Amino acid sequence: MIRLGINIDHVATLRNARGETHPNPIKAAKFVKKCGADSITIHLREDRRHINDIDAKKICSIKRLLVNLEISTNLNVVNTALKIKPNFICIVPENRKEITTEGGLDLKKNKKKIRKIILMFKKKKIRTSLFVNPSIEDIKISKELGSDCIEIHTGRLANLIKSKKKYNQEFFRIKKCSKLADNINLEVHAGHGLDYKTTEILSKIKQIKEFNIGHYIIGESIFYGFKTVIKNFKKILNKKK
Ligand code: PXP
Repeated sequence: MIRLGINIDHVATLRNARGETHPNPIKAAKFVKKCGADSITIHLREDRRHINDIDAKKICSIKRLLVNLEISTNLNVVNTALKIKPNFICIVPENRKEITTEGGLDLKKNKKKIRKIILMFKKKKIRTSLFVNPSIEDIKISKELGSDCIEIHTGRLANLIKSKKKYNQEFFRIKKCSKLADNINLEVHAGHGLDYKTTEILSKIKQIKEFNIGHYIIGESIFYGFKTVIKNFKKILNKKK
């Protein structure tokens, strides 16, 4: 079974647009689980532009819900995450002016810091993941730093497919990285910019065990509802290949 993690940050974006309490991300977390999500992802950004500390705390205390908390290497956020104790953490780069996470971590530059953060979470038995570009070097560094998993940034592939450009080279880059990661015992995840078509293409890489998808699922659910959209994604992920 390939797992589907759903990023519900944009439920909070919608709530915050009005500065009130609706739609409620806690309700969304419970609801997407009921609709078949294997886990939910939330990103506690340094500027708290969508999910805030109270949301994160409440979501992480929902029984039998697996929560993947995305954080940057900012120590304030790291300490908050250690207190909240999600099931999984995924370390991502963060740039104040970006609209969304634009690329993978600069592992070479931040080795010492990331190694230390991974260790802190592993001591608490929290599964660790690093959001990386599809680069062989970054896969090797991820292993060296002691991460349990890597999540490959699929934004470039998704953009090429959506703009009907040639995507083979990027696809094979992701495939090669996934194979290497799997060989050295790093669990492979994928995420960013995915929709039905891009997910279907990537699901042919059998080493990818988890897909984390947000914006498209929330957007599509406005028209068809979470139940239908999640069902469609799960069908794509677990189609016999
Ligand atoms: N995975 C990671 C690590 C992310 O940071 C994000 C959000 O930027 C996603 C997955 C989901 O991306 P999207 O909202 O484009 O589906």
